[in-house]
Amino acid sequence: MKILVVGGGGREHAIIRALKQSPQCTEIWCAPGNGGISYDAHCKAISATDVDAMVAFAKEEAFDYVVVAQDDPLALGMVDALAAVGIPAFGPDKAAARIEASKVFSKNLMQKYGIPTADYAVFDDPAKVIEYVESKNKYPVVIKADGLALGKGVLICQNHEDVVAGVKEIMLDKKFGASGNHVVVEEFLTGPEVSVLSFCDGKTVKPMVSSMDHKRALDGDQGLNTGGMGTVAPNPYYTQEVADRCMKEIFLPTVAAMQAEGCPFKGCLYFGLMLTPDGPKVIEYNCRFGDPETQVVLPLLESDLLTVMQATTNGTLAETEVKFRDGAAACVILASGGYPLSYEKGKEITGLTEGQLPDCAGVTVYHAGTALKDGVLVTSGGRVLGVTATADTLAEALKSAYAASENIHFDKLHKRSDIGARALAAMQ
Ligand code: AMP
Ligand code: GLY
Repeated sequence: MKILVVGGGGREHAIIRALKQSPQCTEIWCAPGNGGISYDAHCKAISATDVDAMVAFAKEEAFDYVVVAQDDPLALGMVDALAAVGIPAFGPDKAAARIEASKVFSKNLMQKYGIPTADYAVFDDPAKVIEYVESKNKYPVVIKADGLALGKGVLICQNHEDVVAGVKEIMLDKKFGASGNHVVVEEFLTGPEVSVLSFCDGKTVKPMVSSMDHKRALDGDQGLNTGGMGTVAPNPYYTQEVADRCMKEIFLPTVAAMQAEGCPFKGCLYFGLMLTPDGPKVIEYNCRFGDPETQVVLPLLESDLLTVMQATTNGTLAETEVKFRDGAAACVILASGGYPLSYEKGKEITGLTEGQLPDCAGVTVYHAGTALKDGVLVTSGGRVLGVTATADTLAEALKSAYAASENIHFDKLHKRSDIGARALAAMQ
């Protein structure tokens, strides 16, 4: 099979490396891809959001299967557009992608079908938001832009001033464009966070191994929110008891709700959960694999990824085995100093041979923001690399990922030094 993966970050690199292990996969492409991905796949410089150009390219090259990995092309209906020209694709159609693309849609879905989540209210008038928050007078309070906002549309407001500033930013200054036409105002929840990615074929849901993201830029969960500075899997807070409860109260009801609404979900449904004192609740849904969760989840997948992905498209997931190996994985992100604000690009990366660390057993380097400039690998994004190690235990995986990352250098490299520390402490 000739396969195209749409996207160009660490998640896409992890998907490509997993797909390449399938005996069915004979040729693999990535669009747009990046410098490091080009060691593993042919790359084609088409923007992931250019639906027309991507579909034309897919037709021209006669791909057998396309994996749409990124949120915005899914929200724009790339899977629908590919289906219209007879090319099967992994991922939800436009209607089902609303589960991530519209927080108003997902919150209303959860309310209608009794799926546990934070209490909320929806507004399109900035003055009404302020009035509502004042009447509740309970802080912190969470304000979320309705639409996609590059993971930055969530504000945790500690006081009235934060609310006024947040409403101005999202609804008046339109920092996230039309995504801020509506906002969701939400109760602040507490508890450990767990990411559960799951395969869905519209009717059946099969969760993958759980994981834990580290969203803040600095050690001790300080600093700004980022796309994710590191991950571990499995997540020790996600016990069998919690998993059973999530299946019954959240996963099955969500899949049934999407079916009942006439937009069955096919692809990877990402449950962002918080284990609150009142039980597990949904913080967010994503309509795709997480980044950098994928970089620790897929290395633990024992089943053939391509077979499982096709089963989600064909509706045969119930009969398809989805098996994970025992053991653990850890991913440490190497970022450009200054990320998630401003940072420099074009710094030479040293220590890698064809993008990898061949002497570090059990370690894979996933490329998130790298480019090849005259044959030299340079930085080209905020998150540059993800160094993933697998091992029998989480402690060993972390040790190995951190030791391996010491071999990689570029100017102003920033990484957190405490990825997995909380997970290890929870296991004591
Ligand atoms: P999101 O972009 O929806 O993943 O939100 C970013 C982060 O904000 C989450 O990972 C949580 O840590 C936090 N967050 C979102 N919603 C809530 C909430 N209702 N209560 C507490 N924290 C939240
Ligand atoms: N790591 C969080 C996400 O992919 O949304």
